[in-house]
Amino acid sequence: MHKIVLFAFIFCYSLQVNAVIKSSTNVDSLLSLMTLDEKIGQMTQMCFSTITLDGSKSLDLNVDNFKQLIKQQHIGSFLSGSDSYAKWFDFVTAIQKVAVEETRLGIPLIIGIDHVHGANYINEGTIFPHNLMMACSFDKTLIEKVAKVTAIETAPVGLNWNFSPVLDVARTPYWPRFYETFGEDSRVCAELGSAYIKAYQYVPEIAPYKLSACAKHFIGYSDPKYGYDRSPSEIPMQTLHEVFVPPFRKAFEAGVKTLMVNSGELNGEPVHGSKFLLDTLLRRQLGFNGVIVTDIKDIERIVKMHHTAANEKEATLQVINAGVDMYMACNSYTFIQHVKELLSEGKLSMAQIDASVRRILQLKKELGLFENPYPSKKLLDAVNTTENRKVALEAAEKSIVLLKNEDILPLSNSTKILVAGIGANSKRMLNGPWSFDWLGAAEAQQPQNMLTLFEACKSTFGNNNVLLSKTERILTSADKKQFLKDTRKADVIVLAVGEQPYSEFMGNINDLTLDADQLELIDAAIATKKPVVLVLMEGRPRVITKQAAGVKAVLFAGYPGIEGAQAIANILSGKTNPSASLAFSYPLAAGHTIPYNHKPSEFNIYWKPEPAQKWLYPFGHGLSYTQFEYSDLQLSDTIITPNGTLKASVKIKNAGKIRGTETALWYIKDEVGSISRPVKSLKFFEKIDLNSGEEKTIHFEINPQQHLAFPDKAGLYRLEPGRYQLIIDNKSLWFSLNN
Ligand code: GLC
Repeated sequence: MHKIVLFAFIFCYSLQVNAVIKSSTNVDSLLSLMTLDEKIGQMTQMCFSTITLDGSKSLDLNVDNFKQLIKQQHIGSFLSGSDSYAKWFDFVTAIQKVAVEETRLGIPLIIGIDHVHGANYINEGTIFPHNLMMACSFDKTLIEKVAKVTAIETAPVGLNWNFSPVLDVARTPYWPRFYETFGEDSRVCAELGSAYIKAYQYVPEIAPYKLSACAKHFIGYSDPKYGYDRSPSEIPMQTLHEVFVPPFRKAFEAGVKTLMVNSGELNGEPVHGSKFLLDTLLRRQLGFNGVIVTDIKDIERIVKMHHTAANEKEATLQVINAGVDMYMACNSYTFIQHVKELLSEGKLSMAQIDASVRRILQLKKELGLFENPYPSKKLLDAVNTTENRKVALEAAEKSIVLLKNEDILPLSNSTKILVAGIGANSKRMLNGPWSFDWLGAAEAQQPQNMLTLFEACKSTFGNNNVLLSKTERILTSADKKQFLKDTRKADVIVLAVGEQPYSEFMGNINDLTLDADQLELIDAAIATKKPVVLVLMEGRPRVITKQAAGVKAVLFAGYPGIEGAQAIANILSGKTNPSASLAFSYPLAAGHTIPYNHKPSEFNIYWKPEPAQKWLYPFGHGLSYTQFEYSDLQLSDTIITPNGTLKASVKIKNAGKIRGTETALWYIKDEVGSISRPVKSLKFFEKIDLNSGEEKTIHFEINPQQHLAFPDKAGLYRLEPGRYQLIIDNKSLWFSLNN
């Protein structure tokens, strides 16, 4: 009799459980059914390397390991891997089936991936330019297209959590993650970052699949005092609120579902352990209510790097008390045990655990994972399509900046071109880091169906008109001799120089100057007296000042992605008219890096004449094959009130012979502030397409709260009466804000 009753109870209980899980409105009911182990398992994210056969990122599942992690440790999330679509599809299907069909509650996994410039960890994925290059397009519509393709190529294969976009504002080009940001301006980072988030998280074409974005890395990561990755940042709170908070605030307004924490230290506190930063500022003041995930193994870092906890158990207490919901444990297995001990010791409360697990279950619910946990083959034909490649070409063409052109570009079709340098015949240099591998996969593992710069130039200018020099760097006199021999047949020398791909701390440098052996190559090319075109393939502005003076043209291509070579060739040939502008300041010297919106300094007063140049190329600089003329800047009034608006307008004319696109950048300078104010700040930007001879009037509506107010050190925005200067191109007008 007892057995019958017991069986009936278990049967009814399992029906209840299944009813709860299948219904999409009972996170709290599901939570109420969970054991402590199941709850902490949801707060733990492991790397795929813990469940693959050889511990690498290739996706050969170690089923025993995996089943142990899921069934005994109740792990709720995994991250990172790189392989083909087919392997991803089979791998994700296999692990979701175990999670959903072989565990007591069947809670689906959420799977994280760093698709930071396209589906870059899927062999057939479309690879776009990195964020720094995309920022140079100043084109939100383009960003939305790129984000949509990324979501379409990511979500259907069961990767539903994209650790993107980076919202850090890059204030020092020494920082090795410079290329992952949208540049040095807070408003550009905010506008473009939130455009990515909205586009990532809303793609009807792949319904019911959804992708969660991730605002990272909160906060102050991108201004390291020593330039090195994860070295301490010291940022006054007023600056933090004015420069580093806005992109995250805009991301929250855009509905970003998750946030990743900065591994570094800010003002003496490891951010992961800071209740002030993660609770007071992030949760309470900025109102973020999504899932907070750590960066990789950052509980360990609190002990081993920051030394603000004696052991990992203590560090775990700090991180949970600070407000983290999920630990990216990767291959560390102590987190679960430490949380259980801290709970039994009364140092953590079940309420804290429940609050985190509730947010994680809510995230899985919003992504539709309970109803739809498995990948879908039917959406795989939307991957790596011709259409997607067209978006990649457009993205590259619109993000490559023409920095210098002394009447050499575009090149005529009959030009004999020699291509040389580390980027001349390399796919890896085009796709850059985070492409099929963290550091960028080796050349042999790069996509077959893409061109190098040499190949794209041959297809554009004719096989007989393009030669390749095997000299990438000049290390010996023999290299130089060979290179000079190669230059003899050329009319023009195109040098693709820059930085081999790197990621995070692997990109730490001590000198921003470009490598000496690459400078030697440029000098040797200049010495031939033949026109030299520099193509910069780099993640940050390496100093090339002397060489830039000697060449005829300079293009900043950064890491332009899978269609980058064709985009460069199209610009070299004139098929494409360049339209990008720098989203960062290009330094004159390695020892002096200064953003465009710096605070006034001595050289504004006594250093006369003020140095004509503070930069090799300033923020916002970008040339076209046509010329744009600004005229007739007007303001609807010279007085504005705090609740009023001012309408600004200016005419832009395409005075050249071909169609072009101009980046219109509106700045405002606050003449007198209660605290020092930047020499100018970007307030609005847009792209203007103009046919030859065409003239348009563009508009900018000045709103005091949005464009004149600035935060104090508590983050409270203030409006100060006084004079303000509106600046666009080389035109400006003054106006006053009255009380
Ligand atoms: C890395 C990066 C972070 C990335 C995470 C997962 O350490 O800091 O940006 O999303 O690990 O790969």
